Amino acid sequence: MSASPSHSPNAHTSGEAAGAARPFDGWAAVVLAAGRGTRMRSALPKVLHPVAGIPMVRLVTNTLHAAGFGHIVVVAGDARDQIADAVGRDIRIAVQDQPLGTGHAALAARDAAGESSHVLILNADLPLLSVRTLREMSERHLGSGAVLSFLTAYLDDPTGYGRVVRRNGRVDGIVEEQDADAATRGEPEVNGGLYAAEAAWLWPALAALTPGASGERYLTDLIGAAVRDGGVHPYQVQEAIEVQQVNTRVELAKVEQAMRDRIRRALMESGVTLVDPAATYIDAGVQIAPDTTVFPGCHLIGETRIGSGCRIGPNAVLRDMTIGDRCEIGGSTLEGSTLAEGVTVGPYCHVRPGSTLEHDVHLGNYAEVKASRIGARTAVGHFSYIGDADVGIGVNVGAGAITANYDGETKHRTRIGDGAFIGSDSVLVAPVEIGAGARTAAGAVVTRDVPAGALVMGMPAREHPPEGGPAARD
Ligand code: UD1
Ligand code: CA
Repeated sequence: MSASPSHSPNAHTSGEAAGAARPFDGWAAVVLAAGRGTRMRSALPKVLHPVAGIPMVRLVTNTLHAAGFGHIVVVAGDARDQIADAVGRDIRIAVQDQPLGTGHAALAARDAAGESSHVLILNADLPLLSVRTLREMSERHLGSGAVLSFLTAYLDDPTGYGRVVRRNGRVDGIVEEQDADAATRGEPEVNGGLYAAEAAWLWPALAALTPGASGERYLTDLIGAAVRDGGVHPYQVQEAIEVQQVNTRVELAKVEQAMRDRIRRALMESGVTLVDPAATYIDAGVQIAPDTTVFPGCHLIGETRIGSGCRIGPNAVLRDMTIGDRCEIGGSTLEGSTLAEGVTVGPYCHVRPGSTLEHDVHLGNYAEVKASRIGARTAVGHFSYIGDADVGIGVNVGAGAITANYDGETKHRTRIGDGAFIGSDSVLVAPVEIGAGARTAAGAVVTRDVPAGALVMGMPAREHPPEGGPAARD
């Protein structure tokens, strides 16, 4: 998927999508993604773990785009190449050589942030942050007169977060959990991990941070510094789930649930029927037009697009599919292919990548199609393999017919002309061409091209005088 700003599951309403966003000119947004993520116990860097099918760090940069932040810097460490691939070309990568803490990471973005007058900083393990929160906190910051704003939340279980410490009701600083005494740990107000700052104050303040007991420089020490230097503005998040971070796989599952819930809700609000939402798995990159019904057990994956008036499932798996209006897909697996309108598939079919099914094609049950084009109104009813084939319009493929596309060394293509009739159990040994209106008898093993209108039968198939005459060629 392109980083289409209008396409963010974290935009609560369409009005918040990119078109409506006033760009945050003069801002740089810095995403901290260079930590080791050891608590995940994973060979994959934490920020590359997918949430609803999209790497966490990419969800964060997508939301920044959608909120109107055009100048985005991702701070990466060892995994810089993988992270650069995940976020796409329009994002700058700054390198933190060693993970010496969030304060050290933010400073690594100094050069890439350029002359921006304001800087938004956020942790990359916050995939649920919404467009609204990013925009509102930044706007409030501009009006606050403070040198630093940061996101807070009240959590029923604040375990794992830095706690906000207040004195006489005013923010005094943030204490990290490992440094907090029992009383402070009992505080329900936490640091969300999103900050907005005046650049002229920020960069010197970051450079002045000193390592704590753990040897890390805490970005959160900036809050205490800002209290002394000119004021800090706490901005309380509207929905606490937005600050759900991902340090562990348990938290990853929690975020995944919340994100999928958000995606399903947005689709239902836009006019899609989900018969059993909890049993329907839809990735963040999926688009579905109104008046389509999705039955339980479906997995809609990757960059799948579905038109209107379709009936999908139960138990369909669609990966990177483009599906036109009024299609009906029974429990089948379809990948990397395009279906025009009115196509019916399954149950129990497998459409593999690189296939195009034109309008009103019918695949019955147990059909496999790979890298093939199938013309309008063609029917492949039962137990067939169509691979590397170009099939014309209005063709009938009988039960058990297959294209033998592989000779043990190379794949070859099969061409079937408009209106051809492929008898049950025919084997079309590629490369081979069946002319328009030609027929193959049941069990024919076709090793040579068949002229238009001809009838072939046998093994190897031979041409027979057309018994029914031209009428058979309709
Ligand atoms: C951090 C905050 C904590 C806050 C919580 C909210 C600090 C010191 N603590 O804790 O107050 O409540 O987030 O989610 O900031 N990273 C780097 N380089 C590093 C270390 C971390 O780039 O050297 C990145 C990580 O990849 C991650 C982000 O910074 O995306 C935050 O790091 P993490 O280890 O998750 O911080 P927490 O301990 O959760
Ligand atoms: Ca974290």
